[in-house]
Amino acid sequence: MRTITVGFLGCGNIGCGVWKLLNEFGEDIRHRAEVRFDIKRILVRDIHKKRDETVPEALLTTDPAAITDDPAIEMVLEFMGGEEPATQYMLRALEMGKTVVTANKMALALNWHLLQAAAEKHRSGLYYEAAVCGAIPVIRTTIDSLQSNRIEAMMGIVNGTTNYILTRMSQEGSAYADVLKEAQRLGLAEPDPTSDVEGFDAAYKLSILSSLAFHARVPFDVIYRQGISQVNAADIAYGKELGYTMKLLAIAKRQGNVIDARVHPTFIPNDHPLASVNGSFNAIFLHGHACDDMMLFGRGAGSAPTASAVVSDMLYAASRETPRHPTFHNENALAPGLRVTDDWHCSFYIRLSASDRPGVMAHITACLGNEGISIRNLVQRDAVASRAQIVLITHDAGERSLRQALSAIDSPDVRVESMIRVEGK
Ligand code: HSE
Repeated sequence: MRTITVGFLGCGNIGCGVWKLLNEFGEDIRHRAEVRFDIKRILVRDIHKKRDETVPEALLTTDPAAITDDPAIEMVLEFMGGEEPATQYMLRALEMGKTVVTANKMALALNWHLLQAAAEKHRSGLYYEAAVCGAIPVIRTTIDSLQSNRIEAMMGIVNGTTNYILTRMSQEGSAYADVLKEAQRLGLAEPDPTSDVEGFDAAYKLSILSSLAFHARVPFDVIYRQGISQVNAADIAYGKELGYTMKLLAIAKRQGNVIDARVHPTFIPNDHPLASVNGSFNAIFLHGHACDDMMLFGRGAGSAPTASAVVSDMLYAASRETPRHPTFHNENALAPGLRVTDDWHCSFYIRLSASDRPGVMAHITACLGNEGISIRNLVQRDAVASRAQIVLITHDAGERSLRQALSAIDSPDVRVESMIRVEGK
């Protein structure tokens, strides 16, 4: 039986979940994996804060060096969240030759190159299954089980908060602000919801996932990002009538040396597997040249689901003689020879409000036609505030051409109210 000494950086929701899982399930792990995890020290901000009463106060410290610099600690688990000081503490632990297991997507997405360089230099292990989609084993699936594939596309619901909000808006026809307020009251959205609702959280996760899928670092800052705070209940309702469900999707595609990586509200057909992923669940739908289509589904957040991924990484690390790192050139920039495009192709949903008079429709179709954009579906609804509501779906078109067409359409007679990308046909 091997014993591995462990230090925690942080002991909030996730840290307490890991503590609990190791206590409740440690015996099974000891039998099965012949390894015992001995938690030696836990870094906290406030020793006297109320937390799981089974965490002994004697293990708590406010000194990070008591974990990162203690030669008796072999494995450091990081649950602090945020870029700093988490990155510095992880770097220190890696420099000291310790294995680091992190649930921190922000620190990893922004500083992966530094963390990996330190891990390689000091032959330390760096593991991060819990950083992306909680309990869903998407990291291990991508780097292990799907190694035999060229992954060409990934589309994921990778943020539970926004999926919960969009699900309720869609089911109840409620306004964004009302559902957000209710989600905050229930503790399902943060008091400051910016990271979730503006798509930052999803973009960090997409940066990590797409880098692994495409074997090339896709830095966070090349990802196009649009959140859900401007989503209008009217668009969700019109989309539904036309057979679409709205989701905040993290999308990455690679064709040859061109990558397209984006997070934005997206319509998908109601019969697409991702359309039935509701509430705070996460799912990743991907396509590999050999495995074809595949979807992973599960809990993307929460104390126990995240602890499930952390403890699985601890066991994975414990089972390896030498640490394993991605083989791609991990710089904080796109690899030479690759290009990120902002001219992706998809269908588009467009809602316009227009003066109800002759020639207006001709103006709209001419502007689209001039950019080579063809209309697949068009409906005109009763006027709201004496302006006709026109909703249309295009055939596949380029983002840039679509934007050109929309600026040409926008005029005193026709206002562009919204544009939503459509994927997954
Ligand atoms: N805030 C995230 C979510 C969970 O709502 O899915 C942690 O990444």
